[in-house]
Amino acid sequence: MKISPSILSADFTRLKEELKALEDAGADYVHVDVMDGRFVPNITIGPFIVDAIKRSTKLQLDVHLMIEEPERYIADFAKAGSDIITVHAEATRHLHKVVQSIKDQGKRAGVTMNPGTALSSIEEVMTDVDLILIMSVNPGFSGQGFIPSSLKKIAGARKMIAASGRNIELEVDGGIKVSNIKEAAAAGADVFVSGSGVFGTPDYRKTIEAMRKEATTVTAKA
Ligand code: DX5
Ligand code: ZN
Repeated sequence: MKISPSILSADFTRLKEELKALEDAGADYVHVDVMDGRFVPNITIGPFIVDAIKRSTKLQLDVHLMIEEPERYIADFAKAGSDIITVHAEATRHLHKVVQSIKDQGKRAGVTMNPGTALSSIEEVMTDVDLILIMSVNPGFSGQGFIPSSLKKIAGARKMIAASGRNIELEVDGGIKVSNIKEAAAAGADVFVSGSGVFGTPDYRKTIEAMRKEATTVTAKA
């Protein structure tokens, strides 16, 4: 299992120190939330900042694009140093083509959908993707509460992955904390995004260790 803290909840006046703190705390990825003010109301990070993040950390960049027509920016985010690029099924008319273009850039391709969108929206790209992200909040802001029905969706995605026979990571994003990570793990998630659940705590290392412990206990039992 992997922990992918969302940098959106970090103190951006101390970005490099925050990234260093994540490395020291044992994070696996850094989750980077890119928002365009169209697909979601908020505007956050562009390729320029992704490039700065890349130059400030050894951690892999798990870039979550919440932007309309992500096909317009795949090359830019790839060049900026993204390792995984995840796009929303709702944001493009050409999901298959976008996934191919991420692969063509030599990057790992992820697909996701909003809580109100069916899992079947990604079915036809199961043969190509490296990661499926289940949104457990409506995208746009950190610090929202976990939507309980996401657990069923995680379980459904786990079944789809098993049926595909492929090695696909199953990530969950939104409202994940030490207190509820176990349920998401039991449903089948193996990569956990957490923004306020990590950055809102005083000791990132302790928090990430506690998350790992909670999640692996369940995985072992399952
Ligand atoms: C929501 C983002 C999430 C969010 C996570 O639009 O995609 O990655 O920042 O933050 P928390 O863990 O605080 O919900
Ligand atoms: Zn995200």
